[in-house]
Amino acid sequence: MNVIYKIISNFINNKSLYIGENVTMSEHMIQAAMLAEKAKANDSLICACLLHDYGHFLLEDPSELVEKKLDGKHEDIGYEYLKKFFKEDVVEPIKYHVIAKRYLVRKKKYFNQLSEASKISLKLQGGMLNKKESKEFEKNKFFKDAINLRKFDEFAKKTNIKMKNISQYEDLLRSKLL
Ligand SMILES: [Fe+2]
Repeated sequence: MNVIYKIISNFINNKSLYIGENVTMSEHMIQAAMLAEKAKANDSLICACLLHDYGHFLLEDPSELVEKKLDGKHEDIGYEYLKKFFKEDVVEPIKYHVIAKRYLVRKKKYFNQLSEASKISLKLQGGMLNKKESKEFEKNKFFKDAINLRKFDEFAKKTNIKMKNISQYEDLLRSKLL
C-alpha cells in the first residue's frame, strides 16, 4: 500500500486517545501541524508536527505502556519507520522531540505548564537533561526544529476547536517524500 494512503487511513481509523488527554492521537497531531502553520513554520516542520507521534500508531497499545510504566520510545519507532519515506528535515525533529521536552523542562516555568500526563511521561522518558546533555543537544543540527516541534506539541491538546482534516495535508505529505 502506498505510504501516504496508509498514513491517511491510520489517521482516520485510529480512534485511540492521546495518553491522558481528551483528544485523539490523530487530532493531537493535526492540531500540532495547525499550530505550526499559524506560527508560519516552514513546510518541513509542519509535516514533522503532523507526524511527530506517528510511532504511537505503530505501537500496539499506547495506553498499556503508561499503565505498565514503560515508555514506548514512540519517537524512535516513528523515526525508524518514517525515515524510509520522508526527508531528513521532517524525520529528524521527530526523533528529537522527546529530548527537546527533557531540555525545556530545565526551565521551571516550562515544567509548571506541562499537563499532568506530560509530567508523568517525563519521568518515564528519563526526566530532565543534565547540563552536559543539554550542551550536547544544543549542538544538534535539528535542535531548533525539535524545540519548536515540542512547543507546538504541548499546546495541541485542545477540545472543541475547528479542526482540519488529514486529507487537507495530503499534498504537503507528498511534497516531503524522499
Ligand atoms: Fe505529541
